[in-house]
Amino acid sequence: MGTLQLFPTPYTPAPPLDIPFVQQQQSLARYSSTRTKRARGRSQATDGENKAAIAWDAGQELCVEEIEVAPPRAHEVRIEIYYTGVCHTDAYTLSGKDPEGAFPIILGHEGAGIVESVGEGVTKLVPNTCSSQSAPPRVSLIPVLRSTPECKECKFCKSGKTNLCGKIRATQGKGVMPDGTSRFKAQGKDILHFMGTSTFSQYTVVADISVVAITPKAPMDRTCLLGCGITTGYGAAVVTAKVEKGSNCAIFGAGCVGLSVIQGCVKNGAAKIIAVDVNDGKQAWAEKFGATTFVNPTKLGKRSIQEELIEMTDGGCDYTFDCTGNVGVMRAALEACHKGWGESIIIGVAAAGQEISTRRMTPPSFQLVTGRVWRGCAFGGIKGRSQLPALVDDYMNGNLKVDEFITHRETLPKINEAFNAMKQGDCIRCVVDMRKL
Ligand SMILES: NC(=O)c1ccc[n+]([C@@H]2O[C@H](COP(=O)([O-])OP(=O)(O)OC[C@H]3O[C@@H](n4cnc5c(N)ncnc54)[C@H](O)[C@@H]3O)[C@@H](O)[C@H]2O)c1
Ligand SMILES: [Zn+2]
Ligand SMILES: [Zn+2]
Repeated sequence: MGTLQLFPTPYTPAPPLDIPFVQQQQSLARYSSTRTKRARGRSQATDGENKAAIAWDAGQELCVEEIEVAPPRAHEVRIEIYYTGVCHTDAYTLSGKDPEGAFPIILGHEGAGIVESVGEGVTKLVPNTCSSQSAPPRVSLIPVLRSTPECKECKFCKSGKTNLCGKIRATQGKGVMPDGTSRFKAQGKDILHFMGTSTFSQYTVVADISVVAITPKAPMDRTCLLGCGITTGYGAAVVTAKVEKGSNCAIFGAGCVGLSVIQGCVKNGAAKIIAVDVNDGKQAWAEKFGATTFVNPTKLGKRSIQEELIEMTDGGCDYTFDCTGNVGVMRAALEACHKGWGESIIIGVAAAGQEISTRRMTPPSFQLVTGRVWRGCAFGGIKGRSQLPALVDDYMNGNLKVDEFITHRETLPKINEAFNAMKQGDCIRCVVDMRKL
């Protein structure tokens, strides 16, 4: 087995995937057109329309239209996206509030699909070359695209201390591939990539270090969600905080991320799991995922949520998690921690220009000087290529909830509806079928 090594604890090790060497030349010859070719449902690969939801400018709806997707270059992979989730980060960038946001761009960073073709030097991912008239399909690899790549060579990856990888960060942040150019064209213009993934396109090209092969048995309309929110929350509890058995935890925000933090706390045997949300409708959701108590901070009268949590836990929580992106909540989450050891994990993404703050309270005490810890994590601290396959196995074995997060489904032409649904309080995750037009 090549590079897909599975992580030891706290996950149950699963058998590694055997990924043979790729016949690159064959696949490149087969898919050498600048227009992607689609084999799905046809006897042979034929030209077809390839659509993507393009964000032409900030604050506008996405336009679903035809695009050209150039073949993958060295160390790149072209992927046919089957399903994508829609995350708040997509909406944030579309809104124009993201200081790194540039347009026109193809958003989307929770995706699953199959490898269609690979560029030079890609040795660990096999393109799906089967058609309905060919021999039985060889194993179709199901990559989950990640916006947090893992090269296993850079200073960050080698440190063993973080899941942040520095290899393609600079170009990824500018919306281009590592060689500084884009693979997308529409209406004669280059279109930018997003987070190195751009899953709102029927075909996308990504760096090989942004793709992870997972068991082909896993349903892609579920595994796409492991590309961001679910993994982020679960990882924040299990990998970043390493919640201990018997701990008292408070989770601020019971959306997709917060609910997954709750399931991570359950997995690690937390005693009190307190969900805090301003929307009472989230109580049933939080309890479904294992919260032991629900608190609506707007219903505490003059009492602050910090005071409430400190009293409920006899001195403060062992772990708190911000899953809202609100800097006021981040402060409350820190101050609700136990003196001496309480840790507050920031997961929510604050708006540009916002600052976090805290101060000595009278009483009880200083915040950081007296041992509380403030830390943050991206993707829950989970390493995309080496740790995600085990999470998929956990899901397949019934040890990780994924199906339960899906409240809405849409098709690519109606992708704007997914953004509208996300603004409503009852949407946890909307999965978009990228192949239904
Ligand atoms: N760090 C990462 O890697 C990462 C990854 C994915 C998402 N995120 C961020 O995590 C955050 C949560 O994402 P989500 O998809 O779960 O969002 P969501 O909107 O589905 O959920 C947020 C929840 O917070 C609640 N809320 C809002 N204000 C609150 C307040 N003042 N007090 C208590 N609860 C409050 C809302 O009612 C909602 O239930 C977002 O900021 C998102 O951008 C971060
Ligand atoms: Zn996301
Ligand atoms: Zn790296």
